[in-house]
Amino acid sequence: MVLSMDRWKGKVAVVTGASSGIGAAIARRLVEQGLQVAVLARRKDRLEDLRSQLEDQSGKLHPIQADISKEEEILEAFKWIKQNLGPIHILVNNAGTNVPATLSEGTTKDWTTILQVNVIGLSIATREALKDMKENKVNGHIIHINSVAGHQTLKIPRVGMYTASKHGVTALTESLRLELALNGSKVKVTSISPGLVDTEILSSEIKNTEIFKKIIENKIILNPDDIVDGLIYVLSTPPHVQVHELMIRPVGETYGS
Ligand SMILES: NC(=O)c1ccc[n+]([C@@H]2O[C@H](COP(=O)([O-])OP(=O)(O)OC[C@H]3O[C@@H](n4cnc5c(N)ncnc54)[C@H](OP(=O)(O)O)[C@@H]3O)[C@@H](O)[C@H]2O)c1
Repeated sequence: MVLSMDRWKGKVAVVTGASSGIGAAIARRLVEQGLQVAVLARRKDRLEDLRSQLEDQSGKLHPIQADISKEEEILEAFKWIKQNLGPIHILVNNAGTNVPATLSEGTTKDWTTILQVNVIGLSIATREALKDMKENKVNGHIIHINSVAGHQTLKIPRVGMYTASKHGVTALTESLRLELALNGSKVKVTSISPGLVDTEILSSEIKNTEIFKKIIENKIILNPDDIVDGLIYVLSTPPHVQVHELMIRPVGETYGS
């Protein structure tokens, strides 16, 4: 198998949730690889900072302020991309949130926020990207940044609805793969499932636990770039090869069940 990113050079990628952590690292690497990268998040100042760091690269970053929990803002963002950048070739559904909440006492509002961003927002962005790919006859690639929590339950407090949302992403990945295959589409879909990565999503509640302190002490944690390396591998596969699921965990991880 010959791995190459050449066919994506100069093409348009969309990365959601690129204002920090894994999404920012993905956007940075894609710009370095020569792509036109539209990045969506609520904190536009962070996106602008990233753009200014990447000015000397062959690709370009295009910041768009958008709240993935609001359909109208996602649609507006895709309209802008279509009018200003051209056909979408890659969508990375990375935006994700965890509002710590139990299943016995959590609020409906907090549960809805998690599902709205991690499941519905991801599905709206996917639908819009697929429509654009079909219209432009692009054999593109949809990548969901899932989680180990999409495959098993975790021994971490107050992540029940987050776990349910990521199990939803696992189901959506296979359902979309089948839907595309049955329609004769050559668009690829991949789920990348990280274990623990050192980013802002880890709440102070989690960071203050003894388990987490041990994790840091023993370096049982990944960096965002470890996930980006996996994403570049997935994108580099030849047109007939689809990596369906890529789970990336730090060596020694034990928090899953
Ligand atoms: N860190 C881990 O251990 C880990 C493990 C497995 C999977 N993941 C997954 O990796 C993905 C990236 O998370 P991360 O770890 O890099 O955390 P992070 O640094 O907190 O990044 C989350 C990103 O999602 C964006 N986001 C959240 N809510 C949004 C909304 N309503 N609208 C638009 N953007 C929104 C944030 O942007 P704004 O706040 O600026 O909007 C931010 O850019 C998530 O899907 C997460 O579930 C993380």
